[in-house]
Amino acid sequence: MKKRNAKETGCSMIPFNNLGFVFKHFGSIVYSKPILEDLCLFLHGFSDKESVLDIGAGTGMMSEFAYRCNDNLRYVAIDPAEGMLKYAPPYLETHIANAELLPFEDDSFDAIFMGESLHHFNDPDAAFVEVLRVLKNGGRLFIYDFDLGTFLGKSIYLMEKLFGEPANFYEPSVLKEILESYGFTVKINKHKWRYTVSASL
Ligand SMILES: C[S@@+](CC[C@H](N)C(=O)[O-])C[C@H]1O[C@@H](n2cnc3c(N)ncnc32)[C@H](O)[C@@H]1O
Repeated sequence: MKKRNAKETGCSMIPFNNLGFVFKHFGSIVYSKPILEDLCLFLHGFSDKESVLDIGAGTGMMSEFAYRCNDNLRYVAIDPAEGMLKYAPPYLETHIANAELLPFEDDSFDAIFMGESLHHFNDPDAAFVEVLRVLKNGGRLFIYDFDLGTFLGKSIYLMEKLFGEPANFYEPSVLKEILESYGFTVKINKHKWRYTVSASL
C-alpha cells in the first residue's frame, strides 16, 4: 500500500499531536490584549446557548478566552490532532476532524472561530465552503492570524514553508477580498504583525 504523506492525509507536518502540553501551557503567549478585546467584542450581543465552532481549536485556547467573555454559549471544537484536543477544557465539546470536512449538519452554528489555524489548513477554499455550509443564515466568523505583509508574518511564513506546512498566510486586505467573495461582510483590525477578522453573512 502506498504510504500517504501528511498533506494527503490532512495532517500537519508539524507534530501537533505531540505538542498539546506545550500549547496548553504556552499557547496563550500569542494572544495579545487587543486580540482578546476584539474577541470579546465579537461575542457581544450573542444570546444564551447560541453555538460556536472552534476550527483548528488545538487545546481550545481561543474558546477558553471566549468563555471568559461569554460562558452562556455552547462551545464545540474540531481539530485533527487528538493530542491537542485532550487538553481542552470540559465545557468544550471536541471532535477529531479537519476543517475541509466538518462532521456537522448544515446550519449547525451561529459562529465560527479560527485561532491561528487557517494557515495550517491544506485547502482553505474547501474549509470556507464547509464554513458556509455549517453556519446558520446570518452567522459570524472570527479569525485571528499573522499578517503576511509584515516582517514577522513573512518570517513565520518562511519558517513554516521550511517545515513543509501549507502556510496559507494572507495580507488582511487579500483575506478580506476572499471572504467577501464567499458573501461575508468583513471588518479587519490590524495589530502590528497580527490581525483579527470579524465577518458576518
Ligand atoms: C497553531 S495551532 C492553533 C491552535 C489553537 N487554535 C490556538 O489558538 O491555540 C494550529 C492547529 O491547527 C490544526 N490543524 C492543522 N491542520 C488542520 C486542518 N486541516 N483542519 C483543522 N485544523 C487543522 C492543528 O492540529 C493545530 O492544533
